[in-house]
Amino acid sequence: MGTVQLVISVLDANDNAPQFNQSVYKVQIPENTERGAFLVRVNATDLDEGTNCNISYSLTNFFPPDAKDMFEIEKNSGEIHLRSSLDFEDAAIYRMQVDAQDKGNPPLSGHGKVVVEVVD
Ligand SMILES: *[C@@H]1O[C@H](CO)[C@@H](O)[C@H](O)[C@H]1NC(C)=O
Ligand SMILES: *[C@@H]1O[C@H](CO)[C@@H](O)[C@H](O)[C@H]1NC(C)=O
Repeated sequence: MGTVQLVISVLDANDNAPQFNQSVYKVQIPENTERGAFLVRVNATDLDEGTNCNISYSLTNFFPPDAKDMFEIEKNSGEIHLRSSLDFEDAAIYRMQVDAQDKGNPPLSGHGKVVVEVVD
């Protein structure tokens, strides 16, 4: 009988989903906040290594729905900015979901909430 040699290399499995450091990010902004203003920065961390911990942020599930055009997130830094100017007639409170997705195969994601309150 011959012998068989096996070479097994262990790669980091993508077994941790990104986790936000807060479940809800609340921010209050004056109604005259300028377009492009920085609002808040979210932060998720992932315990995996390499691309499995490389996180990309996105916003989804906006309420009211037109908030989709009002806020944007920088996908690498997690910085949320105001995209348009605020209108007095609009809602005083905006809610959205923030997702953090790693680049594992398959990717895993974590979720948080962002609440923006417009104050006088
Ligand atoms: C995110 O949180 C981690 C762990 O608390 C920290 O090490 C890291 O510097 C934070 N990143 C940002 C961009 O604040
Ligand atoms: C979460 O991370 C953000 C961005 O780095 C930071 O501003 C905030 O203070 C952190 N929150 C906690 C509870 O550490």
